[in-house]
Amino acid sequence: VTQPVPVIAIDGPSASGKGTVAARVAEALGFHYLDSGSLYRLVALAALKAGLAESDPRVVDIARHLPAAFEAGVVRLSGEDVTDAIRSEACSVMASKVAARSEVRDALLDRQRAYRRPPGLVAEGRDMGSVVFPDAGTKVFLTASVEARAERRYKQLMEKGLPANIDSLSQDLRERDERDASRPVAPLKKLPDATELETSEMTVDQAVSFVLDLVGAKG
Ligand code: DC
Repeated sequence: VTQPVPVIAIDGPSASGKGTVAARVAEALGFHYLDSGSLYRLVALAALKAGLAESDPRVVDIARHLPAAFEAGVVRLSGEDVTDAIRSEACSVMASKVAARSEVRDALLDRQRAYRRPPGLVAEGRDMGSVVFPDAGTKVFLTASVEARAERRYKQLMEKGLPANIDSLSQDLRERDERDASRPVAPLKKLPDATELETSEMTVDQAVSFVLDLVGAKG
Protein backbone atom coordinates (compact mmCIF):
# COMPACT_ATOMS: atom_id res chain seq x y z
CA VAL A 1 0.00 0.00 0.00
CA THR A 2 1.46 3.36 -0.96
CA GLN A 3 1.22 5.99 1.75
CA PRO A 4 -0.11 9.40 0.68
CA VAL A 5 2.54 12.12 0.55
CA PRO A 6 2.36 13.93 3.93
CA VAL A 7 1.04 17.48 4.04
CA ILE A 8 1.37 20.04 6.82
CA ALA A 9 -1.33 22.68 6.33
CA ILE A 10 -0.74 26.06 7.95
CA ASP A 11 -3.64 28.50 7.64
CA GLY A 12 -4.08 31.92 9.16
CA PRO A 13 -4.78 35.61 8.57
CA SER A 14 -2.64 38.13 6.69
CA ALA A 15 0.77 38.95 8.12
CA SER A 16 0.42 36.36 10.89
CA GLY A 17 3.95 35.14 10.17
CA LYS A 18 2.71 31.86 8.71
CA GLY A 19 4.84 32.35 5.58
CA THR A 20 8.08 32.59 7.53
CA VAL A 21 7.11 29.73 9.85
CA ALA A 22 5.95 27.47 6.99
CA ALA A 23 9.12 28.06 4.97
CA ARG A 24 11.29 27.27 8.00
CA VAL A 25 9.35 24.10 8.82
CA ALA A 26 9.68 22.96 5.18
CA GLU A 27 13.41 23.59 5.29
CA ALA A 28 13.82 21.69 8.57
CA LEU A 29 11.95 18.66 7.22
CA GLY A 30 13.34 18.84 3.67
CA PHE A 31 9.76 19.19 2.39
CA HIS A 32 8.43 21.18 -0.56
CA TYR A 33 6.80 24.51 0.25
CA LEU A 34 3.68 26.15 -1.16
CA ASP A 35 2.92 29.81 -0.50
CA SER A 36 -0.62 29.75 -1.90
CA GLY A 37 -1.16 33.45 -1.19
CA SER A 38 1.50 34.29 -3.76
CA LEU A 39 -0.68 32.68 -6.45
CA TYR A 40 -3.59 34.98 -5.57
CA ARG A 41 -1.16 37.88 -5.43
CA LEU A 42 0.15 37.00 -8.91
CA VAL A 43 -3.39 36.87 -10.33
CA ALA A 44 -4.03 40.26 -8.69
CA LEU A 45 -0.88 41.81 -10.11
CA ALA A 46 -1.59 40.53 -13.61
CA ALA A 47 -5.15 41.90 -13.35
CA LEU A 48 -3.90 45.29 -12.12
CA LYS A 49 -1.35 45.44 -14.95
CA ALA A 50 -4.10 44.68 -17.46
CA GLY A 51 -6.33 47.33 -15.87
CA LEU A 52 -9.06 44.80 -15.02
CA ALA A 53 -11.59 45.06 -12.18
CA GLU A 54 -11.75 42.05 -9.83
CA SER A 55 -15.16 41.09 -11.25
CA ASP A 56 -13.93 40.98 -14.87
CA PRO A 57 -14.30 37.48 -16.43
CA ARG A 58 -10.80 37.80 -17.86
CA VAL A 59 -9.40 37.54 -14.31
CA VAL A 60 -10.45 33.87 -14.32
CA ASP A 61 -8.52 33.30 -17.58
CA ILE A 62 -5.49 34.88 -15.95
CA ALA A 63 -5.79 32.44 -13.03
CA ARG A 64 -6.15 29.45 -15.39
CA HIS A 65 -3.12 30.33 -17.46
CA LEU A 66 -1.00 32.09 -14.86
CA PRO A 67 2.54 32.41 -16.34
CA ALA A 68 4.19 32.12 -12.92
CA ALA A 69 7.56 30.72 -11.91
CA PHE A 70 9.22 30.32 -8.50
CA GLU A 71 12.95 29.77 -8.13
CA ALA A 72 15.31 30.44 -5.25
CA GLY A 73 13.11 33.01 -3.54
CA VAL A 74 12.35 34.88 -6.77
CA VAL A 75 8.76 35.09 -8.03
CA ARG A 76 8.28 35.70 -11.75
CA LEU A 77 5.29 36.70 -13.82
CA SER A 78 5.88 36.19 -17.57
CA GLY A 79 9.60 36.14 -16.78
CA GLU A 80 9.58 39.45 -14.90
CA ASP A 81 10.84 39.52 -11.29
CA VAL A 82 7.78 40.57 -9.27
CA THR A 83 8.96 39.33 -5.83
CA ASP A 84 8.49 42.77 -4.25
CA ALA A 85 5.66 43.99 -6.49
CA ILE A 86 3.26 41.25 -5.31
CA ARG A 87 3.80 42.38 -1.68
CA SER A 88 2.65 46.00 -2.21
CA GLU A 89 -0.46 47.11 -0.35
CA ALA A 90 -2.34 47.72 -3.62
CA CYS A 91 -1.62 44.16 -4.69
CA SER A 92 -2.58 42.78 -1.26
CA VAL A 93 -5.96 44.46 -1.42
CA MET A 94 -6.60 43.24 -4.98
CA ALA A 95 -5.46 39.70 -4.05
CA SER A 96 -8.05 39.56 -1.29
CA LYS A 97 -10.74 40.65 -3.81
CA VAL A 98 -9.86 38.18 -6.58
CA ALA A 99 -9.54 35.42 -3.94
CA ALA A 100 -13.20 35.93 -3.01
CA ARG A 101 -14.22 34.62 -6.48
CA SER A 102 -14.90 30.89 -6.56
CA GLU A 103 -13.95 30.57 -10.27
CA VAL A 104 -10.54 32.05 -9.50
CA ARG A 105 -10.08 29.61 -6.59
CA ASP A 106 -11.11 26.64 -8.73
CA ALA A 107 -8.70 27.70 -11.47
CA LEU A 108 -5.81 27.52 -8.98
CA LEU A 109 -6.68 24.17 -7.35
CA ASP A 110 -4.74 21.74 -9.57
CA ARG A 111 -1.70 23.99 -9.57
CA GLN A 112 -1.65 23.94 -5.76
CA ARG A 113 -2.18 20.17 -5.48
CA ALA A 114 0.70 19.56 -7.89
CA TYR A 115 3.06 20.73 -5.12
CA ARG A 116 2.28 17.56 -3.18
CA ARG A 117 5.33 15.49 -4.07
CA PRO A 118 7.60 13.23 -1.99
CA PRO A 119 8.96 13.53 0.59
CA GLY A 120 6.21 15.94 1.71
CA LEU A 121 4.72 19.41 1.55
CA VAL A 122 4.24 22.35 3.88
CA ALA A 123 1.40 24.47 2.46
CA GLU A 124 0.29 27.81 3.84
CA GLY A 125 -2.72 30.00 3.13
CA ARG A 126 -6.37 30.27 4.16
CA ASP A 127 -7.91 27.02 2.93
CA MET A 128 -5.03 24.55 2.88
CA GLY A 129 -6.59 22.38 5.57
CA SER A 130 -10.21 22.90 4.51
CA VAL A 131 -10.31 22.77 0.70
CA VAL A 132 -6.97 22.12 -1.00
CA PHE A 133 -5.56 19.40 1.30
CA PRO A 134 -8.44 18.33 3.57
CA ASP A 135 -6.61 15.05 4.31
CA ALA A 136 -3.46 16.84 5.61
CA GLY A 137 -2.01 14.93 8.57
CA THR A 138 -1.14 18.10 10.46
CA LYS A 139 -3.27 21.25 10.44
CA VAL A 140 -2.25 24.44 12.17
CA PHE A 141 -4.26 27.63 12.57
CA LEU A 142 -1.61 30.29 13.07
CA THR A 143 -2.78 33.67 14.35
CA ALA A 144 -1.55 36.86 15.99
CA SER A 145 -3.31 40.02 17.13
CA VAL A 146 -3.95 42.79 14.58
CA GLU A 147 -1.50 45.00 16.51
CA ALA A 148 1.30 42.41 16.38
CA ARG A 149 0.67 41.76 12.69
CA ALA A 150 0.55 45.46 11.73
CA GLU A 151 3.83 45.94 13.60
CA ARG A 152 5.48 43.04 11.72
CA ARG A 153 4.27 44.25 8.33
CA TYR A 154 5.46 47.77 9.19
CA LYS A 155 8.96 46.51 9.97
CA GLN A 156 9.09 44.44 6.79
CA LEU A 157 8.10 47.43 4.64
CA MET A 158 10.59 49.73 6.38
CA GLU A 159 13.39 47.21 5.87
CA LYS A 160 12.60 47.19 2.17
CA GLY A 161 12.58 51.00 2.12
CA LEU A 162 8.89 51.01 1.18
CA PRO A 163 6.41 53.60 2.53
CA ALA A 164 4.41 52.42 5.55
CA ASN A 165 1.93 53.81 8.04
CA ILE A 166 1.02 51.74 11.08
CA ASP A 167 -2.58 53.01 11.36
CA SER A 168 -3.45 52.40 7.72
CA LEU A 169 -1.76 48.98 7.90
CA SER A 170 -3.95 48.04 10.89
CA GLN A 171 -7.02 49.30 9.10
CA ASP A 172 -6.14 47.36 5.91
CA LEU A 173 -5.52 44.19 7.94
CA ARG A 174 -8.91 44.48 9.65
CA GLU A 175 -10.67 44.97 6.33
CA ARG A 176 -8.82 42.07 4.71
CA ASP A 177 -9.46 39.78 7.70
CA GLU A 178 -13.12 40.64 7.45
CA ARG A 179 -13.23 39.94 3.69
CA ASP A 180 -11.19 36.70 3.93
CA ALA A 181 -13.29 35.39 6.85
CA SER A 182 -16.76 36.40 5.68
CA ARG A 183 -16.64 35.36 2.02
CA PRO A 184 -18.96 32.50 1.05
CA VAL A 185 -16.20 30.42 -0.61
CA ALA A 186 -13.34 28.93 1.40
CA PRO A 187 -13.52 31.49 4.23
CA LEU A 188 -10.66 31.64 6.69
CA LYS A 189 -11.69 29.79 9.82
CA LYS A 190 -10.20 27.51 12.40
CA LEU A 191 -11.13 23.90 11.65
CA PRO A 192 -12.13 21.53 14.45
CA ASP A 193 -9.15 19.30 13.57
CA ALA A 194 -6.60 22.16 13.47
CA THR A 195 -4.29 23.11 16.34
CA GLU A 196 -4.33 26.84 17.11
CA LEU A 197 -1.03 28.65 17.53
CA GLU A 198 -1.23 32.24 18.80
CA THR A 199 2.11 33.87 17.95
CA SER A 200 1.70 37.50 19.12
CA GLU A 201 4.19 36.92 21.94
CA MET A 202 6.32 34.28 20.20
CA THR A 203 9.54 34.38 18.28
CA VAL A 204 9.75 32.70 14.87
CA ASP A 205 11.99 30.01 16.40
CA GLN A 206 9.37 29.19 19.04
CA ALA A 207 6.59 28.93 16.47
CA VAL A 208 8.74 26.69 14.23
CA SER A 209 9.57 24.41 17.18
CA PHE A 210 5.91 24.18 18.10
CA VAL A 211 4.93 23.02 14.59
CA LEU A 212 7.83 20.56 14.37
CA ASP A 213 6.85 19.09 17.76
CA LEU A 214 3.28 18.76 16.56
CA VAL A 215 4.40 16.94 13.39
CA GLY A 216 6.63 14.67 15.48
CA ALA A 217 3.83 13.93 17.93
CA LYS A 218 1.58 12.84 15.06
CA GLY A 219 4.35 10.56 13.84
O1 DC B 1 -1.28 34.98 2.61
P1 DC B 1 -1.30 36.22 1.78
O2 DC B 1 -1.53 37.47 2.59
O3 DC B 1 -0.10 36.35 0.88
O4 DC B 1 -2.57 36.06 0.81
C1 DC B 1 -2.95 37.04 -0.11
C2 DC B 1 -4.46 37.03 -0.32
O5 DC B 1 -4.85 35.81 -0.93
C3 DC B 1 -5.26 37.14 0.98
O6 DC B 1 -6.09 38.29 0.96
C4 DC B 1 -6.15 35.93 1.03
C5 DC B 1 -5.94 35.21 -0.27
N1 DC B 1 -5.66 33.80 -0.06
C6 DC B 1 -6.72 32.92 -0.10
O7 DC B 1 -7.86 33.35 -0.25
N2 DC B 1 -6.50 31.59 0.01
C7 DC B 1 -5.26 31.11 0.20
N3 DC B 1 -5.07 29.81 0.30
C8 DC B 1 -4.16 32.00 0.28
C9 DC B 1 -4.40 33.35 0.16
